[in-house]
Amino acid sequence: EWNMHDFCQKQIDIIMNKLEDKYVVGAVSGGVDSSVAAALVHKAIGDRFRPFMVDTGLLRKDEAKIVKERLEKHIPGMKLKVLDASGDFYKELSGVMEPEKKRKIIGRLFVEAFEKAVSEMGLPHERCLLLQGTLYPDVIESTSYKGPSSVIKTHHNVGGLPDRMKMEVIEPLRLLFKDEVRALGNELGLPVTSVMRHPFPGPGLGIRIIGEVTKESADTLSLADDIYIEELRKNGHYDKIGQAFAVLLPTVRSVGVMGDHRTYENVCVLRAVTTTDFMTADWYDMPHDVLAKISNRIINEVKGINRVCYDVSSKPPATIEWE
Ligand code: XMP
Repeated sequence: EWNMHDFCQKQIDIIMNKLEDKYVVGAVSGGVDSSVAAALVHKAIGDRFRPFMVDTGLLRKDEAKIVKERLEKHIPGMKLKVLDASGDFYKELSGVMEPEKKRKIIGRLFVEAFEKAVSEMGLPHERCLLLQGTLYPDVIESTSYKGPSSVIKTHHNVGGLPDRMKMEVIEPLRLLFKDEVRALGNELGLPVTSVMRHPFPGPGLGIRIIGEVTKESADTLSLADDIYIEELRKNGHYDKIGQAFAVLLPTVRSVGVMGDHRTYENVCVLRAVTTTDFMTADWYDMPHDVLAKISNRIINEVKGINRVCYDVSSKPPATIEWE
């Protein structure tokens, strides 16, 4: 009889044996897969596992801080190193409008931050492995199946590192489906907020700011997004939605009125979809009172936004992200 407790213990034993005197480094994004993979390897080899997180400046509000606190609290003994590379990201993204160019830059800077992190750890290279949170569907997709989105957008992910890094890879989740990863996360003591999170793309807010990415626009968007997600949780909608996020249109300005003043500011779009596999998706039928509350809060609390729209496009023909 198969159960998650036994599977978990078995994986820990396998990893312990395989990694006798080895070290493992791993980039943690705060998402389900990388968090569960990190918790598992930490259980197996303790402080020979060196997790780190790259703060790209394109994460959700306070994300690096929250992920660090959450993991260190629930995985006793784990120390997550956070590298603030946001300055590099804003600098290189300055003036860049085109989505695929942004993805390339973000992917390259991520690898550079990664390489720097690993070299700073000063571990013996020949005894150092790289942790990847690859799941079973990723394994199938990369060998036999190419989904439509992979030809429409190049998906940069924290797992996708170039060959030149030439590190042996460990993929302890490669036999699992997403719901099994969540169950394993539970078994390992990760909180619901970790295992039930909506996915977040590698390029982060970089592809949700439609146009040039700046620190200012990233800060504005992360505030709006945070209010949106907080209200979805408060009103019991978060877990009914596959993915929800805010999008900022920095090149569009609309006229508004605040008190007796004219405003001329940016538009924020709210997106929420239901989906089983992210290959197709329906827009979420959000109750109007919830939309009204979110819109009021964003316009009143976020400087620079004076209009909120709700995206009623399904995939296909629209994609989930705007870029
Ligand atoms: P689309 O926009 O193609 O998104 O309908 C499908 C799913 O993929 C995510 N996505 C990305 N994830 N790097 C990622 O790691 C990317 O460049 C990227 N683009 C889209 C998107 O958030 C959704 O879950």
